[in-house]
Amino acid sequence: VIENKLPMPDQDALAHSQRVRAYLEQQMAACPQLSFGDYMNHVLYAPGLGYYSAGNTKFGRAGDFVTAPESSSLFGWSLATQLVEVFGEIRADVLEIGAGTGQLAVDILQTLHDQNQLPLSYAILEPSADLIHRQKARLEHELPADAFSRVSWLSELPENFHGVILANEVLDAMAVECVRLNQSDGSVSQLFVVNSDDALAQHWAPASERVREAVDHRLGESRHLLPDDYATEINLSISPWFRSVAASMVHGLVLIIDYGYPRSEYYAPDRATGTLRCYYRHRLHEDPLLYPGLQDITADVDFTLVVESATEAGFELHGYTTQAQFLLANGLLERAEALVNRPELKSDQERFLISQQVNTLTMASQMGERFQVMGLSVGLEQPLLGFQKLDLAHRL
Ligand SMILES: C[S@@+](CC[C@H](N)C(=O)[O-])C[C@H]1O[C@@H](n2cnc3c(N)ncnc32)[C@H](O)[C@@H]1O
Repeated sequence: VIENKLPMPDQDALAHSQRVRAYLEQQMAACPQLSFGDYMNHVLYAPGLGYYSAGNTKFGRAGDFVTAPESSSLFGWSLATQLVEVFGEIRADVLEIGAGTGQLAVDILQTLHDQNQLPLSYAILEPSADLIHRQKARLEHELPADAFSRVSWLSELPENFHGVILANEVLDAMAVECVRLNQSDGSVSQLFVVNSDDALAQHWAPASERVREAVDHRLGESRHLLPDDYATEINLSISPWFRSVAASMVHGLVLIIDYGYPRSEYYAPDRATGTLRCYYRHRLHEDPLLYPGLQDITADVDFTLVVESATEAGFELHGYTTQAQFLLANGLLERAEALVNRPELKSDQERFLISQQVNTLTMASQMGERFQVMGLSVGLEQPLLGFQKLDLAHRL
């Protein structure tokens, strides 16, 4: 990610963003100030218009950001190793939430195919019609027929699910509310988006009761130790999401992989401007009102909220660790070594690329510690390989 001037969108992209603006204006005709969370939902997910729903290239070099499955197939290989272990105890069905380009599904299914361990089914739940279209084309093109024949796309969570649910970088893409603490009078402000002089503008107003209650609960007494004007985010989508996942799952495991922190670090005094950020063509910036519909908007995940929401919904915490330790415990290095030592690998350049991928996935300064893995289970007995090296549950 490069932090400098943003490139100008081309004419087609600007015309698309104008259509998103017109759609937002329609929404604002009914409700002149949109809470930031509603705005974020519209600009990311409005059917056919939002960032994830429209036909733009989002992932990879030509897009706006790179996720772990996009950086290396070693990621999917290591997750497949974890799946094989779980399939010893529960039914071998997989449900991937928010599958992006389909790269993770390709890597997992190809690995399981090569090991003769294909799951009974691999379902994908994806709200974006554009991404479903891309996923179908890619999986059909890249997977062996017997692996592809097990894949299906769902429009809602299934009933009576037994198996493993995977969500890589999904919770960070859910809408958040932005709040600011006024320490002089103890009040909480919430960010709204309004139309002002024909332009989108930010407007701070007293927080709704629901947001204030969430601030009181999540920040607790430590709230008084934070600096004046402390800005942060409150995710109101994660709890209802876990309730619906719990209603769907009878027996199995949910693996959440995302960037974030336990709550004490998330709402730390020195994180005084929050975690909300935007990505446009690999440039990181802080203006969510810019180019609506053309850029990704994301916020870190409060993993204490994840475990609270999941356990309230009926899950048990099965493990919590860093992405690095989860992947290493699932044999990432041994796999990388085997790839590097393949006799058909001739050039040092290819060897270098593999070691670079290992670094990207595991180094603390890259994805290794910024990304964390949490396992949440229903009726699962066995301890999991991925959580054997480092257990961070005490930090939640
Ligand atoms: C940042 S992308 C990550 C994609 C992919 N998992 C990866 O790692 O490359 C977020 C994905 O989550 C999906 N998503 C967001 N909210 C969702 C929800 N409530 N249910 C299912 N998918 C969701 C988006 O459409 C998108 O595919």
